[in-house]
Amino acid sequence: MYHHEMILKHAFDVLKNSYAPYSEFHVAACIEVENGEYITGVNVENASYGLSNCAERSAIFSAYTQGYRKNDIKAIAVVTRAEKITTPCGACRQVLSELLCPDTPVILSNGKKELVTNMKELLPFSFGQEDLTEG
Ligand code: THU
Repeated sequence: MYHHEMILKHAFDVLKNSYAPYSEFHVAACIEVENGEYITGVNVENASYGLSNCAERSAIFSAYTQGYRKNDIKAIAVVTRAEKITTPCGACRQVLSELLCPDTPVILSNGKKELVTNMKELLPFSFGQEDLTEG
């Protein structure tokens, strides 16, 4: 079981590091792994807008960089201070659906409201590694 308050605290703590001078929309994410470590990420934008990286992808790529894999991940939190809870974009859903287990909690919060979901719900009928076979 993940630590609900702690994962959200770490996510909100790193929100100040979001680099979003173009959209001015700040997003942070935090992954809790089996050994109790928290790995964070923020959105990092670029003048060539399409090359921006979302907070969820920053966090999951860092976790994989550190050698963790989907079975080591207890939960991921994605936070903003927006009016409405932010859900992962389509690109992040594709990436997270491969790099997280389908039932791993995905916690979305804006500091006022929360939604706990998972990749099975966020990306049903997904395309993945197992689909790359012919014949
Ligand atoms: N963004 C994220 O980092 N995560 C989301 O779940 C939604 C969108 C970022 C991408 C871009 O830097 C900014 O928010 C506006 O789309």
